[in-house]
Amino acid sequence: MHKFVIEGGEKLIGDVRISGSKNEVLPILAATLLSEEKSVIRNVPNLSDVRLMLEILEELGCRTTFENHTVTVTPYDLNRIVASYDLVSQMRASFCVLGPLLSSRKRAEVSLPGGCVIGVRPVDLHLRGIKALGVNYELDHGYVKADGRNMRGTRIFLGGNSGSTVTGTANILMAAVMAKGTTFIEQAAPEPEVEGLANMLNSMGAKISGAGSHRIEIQGVDSLRGADYDVQPDRMETATYAIAAAITKGDLTLRNSKYENLIAFWEKLKETGTQVDQVADDAVRIQGCEIQPTDIVTFSYPGFPTDAQAPMIALLATANGISIVTDTIYPDRFMHVAELIRMGADIRKQNNSAIIHGVKNLSGAQVMGADLRATAALVLAGLTAKGTTEVHRIYHLDRGYEQMEQKLAQVGANIQRAEYNPSRRKSDRNAA
Ligand code: EPU
Repeated sequence: MHKFVIEGGEKLIGDVRISGSKNEVLPILAATLLSEEKSVIRNVPNLSDVRLMLEILEELGCRTTFENHTVTVTPYDLNRIVASYDLVSQMRASFCVLGPLLSSRKRAEVSLPGGCVIGVRPVDLHLRGIKALGVNYELDHGYVKADGRNMRGTRIFLGGNSGSTVTGTANILMAAVMAKGTTFIEQAAPEPEVEGLANMLNSMGAKISGAGSHRIEIQGVDSLRGADYDVQPDRMETATYAIAAAITKGDLTLRNSKYENLIAFWEKLKETGTQVDQVADDAVRIQGCEIQPTDIVTFSYPGFPTDAQAPMIALLATANGISIVTDTIYPDRFMHVAELIRMGADIRKQNNSAIIHGVKNLSGAQVMGADLRATAALVLAGLTAKGTTEVHRIYHLDRGYEQMEQKLAQVGANIQRAEYNPSRRKSDRNAA
């Protein structure tokens, strides 16, 4: 196992190149199952989640290669329809192979993803969507066993108690793309990652309009060509490095980023006193100064993203006053709070909110990541804390941030990846 060892206090200065989007590329890779031809996907981040999705595609009868940020996928056995628990349980986004399998192979047996540390994360809306499309399915020993031979276009409402569903919209979009007739998805997720997926599908011959809004129209087609698609920059990696600049009072230019995909985030970052300037079509400059408090409520796109909630709490922990951050998407996504408190933060959790009294200094400590964004928040806190911070369980970071320690070190952070032996640690025994 690895940990990060961070000596806090260095201002980060320079350029960071943002990688391709994790949350876009995972459904995009699942979509390669929709064609019998070879697909080429470019600007793919080298992440453990991506490598896992390639394993799933191989399990589903595809040959894959991954070199120089380019993935190729060539299906060779169209009879394989089982996505196993061993793989799906490691990454929820892999449930997105359900839609493409039903569309192209007309049958699917996909393990239900199970629980997750950031919340219950049900897939009822995905299942409601395939049922509306005419799919017969049963839940059998933890698997969705589904027959898509009678799929037909229809009108589907995909709204849930927390708004729309991102991977649910992607899944139903891919299921409907070759269904007979026209499908309307109402209350679709308008996230840029869904729009990117629709653009890719259209380039393969699909007929989709309205992606990027809450209403998507899909006219079913008979077959799709192979894809050649460039993945968009990662919004959440952009937000994380922007906070790295702000929290260290540094000056970073984030290259290969899309300013327009993070409007609510930039507005809130500006409210903290941080200077945010779009300096080119694909570059944003962030200059940090004394952090002011602000209140935040997460919403689905284009609102403030839940994935930026934990990193933002790390920043507000150092603000000059009191902030309140509320997560409406994942009310229990506050695992980082207890760890930040170990670093000297003054935060109280109340229902789905964190009340943050900013402190002058955080202090380095041994802390433990619980999920991808919570772990990123601890790294950010470590960059400004006095003394040494050890962040454990950084395998969470390797799922979603490409070469994080190298990118941070290149702009001046004192950060190293080191081995550690968890069996010797009492805290790990307690956490088991
Ligand atoms: N929901 C349901 N039923 C469903 C699906 C979702 O009630 O069938 C609820 C969820 O419990 C949640 C809300 O709807 O309260 C939104 O969930 P959504 O389905 O949109 O989340 P997701 O598609 O599973 C994606 C990202 C997450 C991100 C969320 C919200 C990917 C691979 N994952 O998850 O990213 O937090 O959207 O924006 O795209 C991350 O990158 O760290 C991450 C967790």
